[in-house]
Amino acid sequence: MKKNKDSSRRNFIKKMAASAAAVAAGTAAFAADDNIIRFTLSKKRAFSANDNVNIALIGAGGMGTQDTITALSVPGIKIVAACDLYDGRLKDAREKWGKDLFTTRSYKEVLNRRDIDAVIVATPDHWHQQISIDAMKAGKHVYCEKPMVHSVVEGPAVIQAQKETGKVFQVGSQGVSSLGNEKAKELLKSGAIGTLNYAEGFWARHSPVGAWQYPIPADASPATVDWETYISNTTKRPFDPLRFFRWRNYLDYGTGMSGDLFVHLFSSLHFITDSLGPNKVYSSGGLRYWKDGREVPDVLLGTFDYPQAQAHPPFNLSLRCNFVDGTSGTTYLKLVGSEGSMDITWDDVVLKRNKTITSDDPFFIEQMKKAGTPLTDRKRIMPPEEIKFEAEKGYRGGPYDHFVNFFQAIRNGGKVVEDAIFGYRAAAPALLCIDSYNNDTAISWNPEKMQVIKK
Ligand SMILES: NC(=O)c1ccc[n+]([C@@H]2O[C@H](COP(=O)([O-])OP(=O)(O)OC[C@H]3O[C@@H](n4cnc5c(N)ncnc54)[C@H](O)[C@@H]3O)[C@@H](O)[C@H]2O)c1
Repeated sequence: MKKNKDSSRRNFIKKMAASAAAVAAGTAAFAADDNIIRFTLSKKRAFSANDNVNIALIGAGGMGTQDTITALSVPGIKIVAACDLYDGRLKDAREKWGKDLFTTRSYKEVLNRRDIDAVIVATPDHWHQQISIDAMKAGKHVYCEKPMVHSVVEGPAVIQAQKETGKVFQVGSQGVSSLGNEKAKELLKSGAIGTLNYAEGFWARHSPVGAWQYPIPADASPATVDWETYISNTTKRPFDPLRFFRWRNYLDYGTGMSGDLFVHLFSSLHFITDSLGPNKVYSSGGLRYWKDGREVPDVLLGTFDYPQAQAHPPFNLSLRCNFVDGTSGTTYLKLVGSEGSMDITWDDVVLKRNKTITSDDPFFIEQMKKAGTPLTDRKRIMPPEEIKFEAEKGYRGGPYDHFVNFFQAIRNGGKVVEDAIFGYRAAAPALLCIDSYNNDTAISWNPEKMQVIKK
């Protein structure tokens, strides 16, 4: 039996090595010890920086700044303008990218400029739809941060604008471009975990900033913040710096834990499984600790039913998010199948394979004989076989590859994976969690037609 196990293990590893060598997320080298087999993942990029791409940033806060730094690390990319509603951010942008940078509070002034090819939209969620549509109609390619839209009803108009304008539109769940996600997709296809039946994802944090209690700048006031524009597409209220700088806590602007974090897990899961999405969404949770006036829970659970589809068997998904978690910092996505599981990050995949086999334990066989039940064909669970696929040293990560993919599509007239349809299919179940939680009810969703099913 040991021989069988060893040869099946060797065959599997050989298969992995051969198939891995044939794809982008390839194998540079592998090393084995008794328990863990390690492969190194690397990627060949057919890269040309022939055409310069001029970009502008709309929403120059934390993520917008990070996105721009990443975008500018791709050869041939130049920033020419930045837009924000808080003067302090515009000052920071000029300090970072030069005093010649065009800065403005009005995104329309950015869109009117002819020297801009693409914009990064990194405003709070309630501005994603309007700015993205206006930008595509003004002839700009768009990299829009996740979630693509602020509510489910906003999605179809973005899809329509992308179709009509033919512009490249990419949503910013950068994990889908990572080596880890690409490898997981390939492994699932090759049958490495058998038949998929379950997936789960988790985000844990335990700090004020992790729980969205960001610092409020000392100079925040109606003079330095364009509050009227900020709330011009939502409920009118007097100036409130908390609602501006800690927007994630309020549903007029943010989308709670599910829109902020579950959406990344949906994006990766849908990329890996080629799924169009779940047909049932249910969410529950509560506000346990961060009782600072926020309108959203700080512990959230979601369960989702994925129906039988052309690309995958039926399976269940469980997502969790906890901002009062003593294990702080744990984040994972796991796919489970009949023959094993995969723990997936952007930089690595840990594959655990497991099969029930006939027992070869002589003591056990003897005992069973003595007991008069010679169950030599009784199955037992083998200790898992663990294979780790790790990105090569110096890998620049999913965020870099996501921008490379975006700019390649602009330069070559190609397609991006996380386009408006993909972005909407990832955002919709996340956004429906808010409705499910608030109304304490399960919601049916048609993932093909991208519509809520009314009962
Ligand atoms: N992909 C990721 O990993 C990731 C990580 C963090 C945030 N995000 C997304 O990025 C977006 C921004 O998040 P953040 O953490 O950077 O928030 P932030 O508050 O740090 O930045 C948002 C900026 O947008 C500005 N702004 C607001 N309304 C505007 C408007 N109408 N026009 C121009 N500027 C406007 C604000 O003044 C602020 O500077 C969100 O959609 C968020 O979900 C994505």
